[in-house]
Amino acid sequence: MNAQVDPELPAGFAITKANWHDLNQVWALEKLCFSKDDAWPYLDLLAALSFPGLVRYKLCKGKDLIGFVGGEVKEGVGWITTIEVHPDYQGRGFGKALLARAEAALGKPTIRLTTRKSNLVAIRMYEKAGYKPVDLWKAYYIGGEDGLVFEKSRGGED
Ligand SMILES: CC(C)(COP(=O)(O)OP(=O)(O)OC[C@H]1O[C@@H](n2cnc3c(N)ncnc32)[C@H](O)[C@@H]1OP(=O)(O)O)[C@@H](O)C(=O)NCCC(=O)NCCS
Repeated sequence: MNAQVDPELPAGFAITKANWHDLNQVWALEKLCFSKDDAWPYLDLLAALSFPGLVRYKLCKGKDLIGFVGGEVKEGVGWITTIEVHPDYQGRGFGKALLARAEAALGKPTIRLTTRKSNLVAIRMYEKAGYKPVDLWKAYYIGGEDGLVFEKSRGGED
């Protein structure tokens, strides 16, 4: 089988569609990247990796899964539902690449996502990618922290 070569990524790294075969690796990554409060439960990840119509991409270095992004379309709006990069590989542009891949796959003119107000690294990534804050969901997260809703308009798509 031909290995997929992605010109945006360094040699040896690839972003490809994920599926339920990736469940255990995504779950392990989830626990590494998020606090206990924010990590998705196993069954939610299974749903994200198997329900039809959802967007899901993995970033792999060889056989190791080191990044994941999920998304869905709700009422005509594309939502990024989760994004994560293994701590050893953060700060190298992989988050940006996963985000761009999911946005393209969602294929909607408006993309939204939510993040904790305190997640400054994620907020910086979203702002750099063209997202603007549009709403505040009071006490959205476990522990009572507000959720910041960001939105990006992508011209000419649908
Ligand atoms: C958020 C996350 C996915 C970013 O992934 P990443 O691969 O580190 O991000 P990138 O290297 O692509 O960086 C993208 C932008 O984010 C910002 N950024 C990344 N790391 C940063 C840091 N340590 N400090 C400040 N800004 C940072 C920069 O603006 C960067 O763009 P630039 O390099 O052009 O300046 C990653 O930190 C992560 O998995 N965090 C834990 C899970 C999480 O919080 N997910 C988001 C939930 S809403």
